[in-house]
Amino acid sequence: MSEMKREYLVAGNWKMFKTVEESIQFVKALDHRLAEIKPPRSNGVDVLVFPPFTSLYAVYGLSSSIKTGAQNVHFKDNGAFTGEVSARMLENIVDFVLIGHSERRELFCENDTDLNKKLKTALKYNFTPVLCVGESLEERDSGQTFSKIRNQLDQDLEGISNADYGNIVIAYEPIWAIGTGKTATPEQAQEVHAFIRKVLNEKTNDSSIAGNIKILYGGSVKPGNSYEIMSQKDINGVLVGGASLQVEDFFDIIVNSFKLANG
Ligand code: PGA
Repeated sequence: MSEMKREYLVAGNWKMFKTVEESIQFVKALDHRLAEIKPPRSNGVDVLVFPPFTSLYAVYGLSSSIKTGAQNVHFKDNGAFTGEVSARMLENIVDFVLIGHSERRELFCENDTDLNKKLKTALKYNFTPVLCVGESLEERDSGQTFSKIRNQLDQDLEGISNADYGNIVIAYEPIWAIGTGKTATPEQAQEVHAFIRKVLNEKTNDSSIAGNIKILYGGSVKPGNSYEIMSQKDINGVLVGGASLQVEDFFDIIVNSFKLANG
């Protein structure tokens, strides 16, 4: 079978967990495990963690196999915005920025207009934005999954050029599957991923650009379900919350992506 070699991104969202010391220990321990199976990049896999802001400076560059990202960013460079962190402050300590995680949208009232500004700011600073989209249980049950996601993509990606699409990652995270132990079935996830790919095709009007955009699945991903999820055609990796807090669980998920990337 002459199938194209697949590439994966396996990302861990630590949320509000881990002190500076715990973050350093984690990255060192994971680096050690990854060294046992060759550098991930050479195996078609990128490994990424989103630690809390306080740990970023300490862990950036600690492992050549592990990239870092911020869980949020403000769209202004400086200003009277108590408690916020700007892209300028993240330069040289992150490669990626998470934009619009459902917890940011719901608990911190982030709206699509601001998320669009955040995404553009991330691109301006040459970070790869990981834009999260996903429906609630009520939206799924009332048949609004696709319209909700299209709406989020339309607003959050407004004004993005085709050149920039080459540097964007999308994460599909059904809200009902986050931290609940309820995962979307691989088929349910694939169906939405294919839909996102279709919308990206329309937006870029270029199937090679849209075909290369990484679309991650997130929501109760564990070592036990990760292989099947990542084997789906339009799923290019995972965004892991709870299971990314333990080195061995996260490592097992990465190993599954190695297997898939290398046949
Ligand atoms: P979970 O979180 O894996 O704990 O469900 C995923 C996320 O919020 O990104």
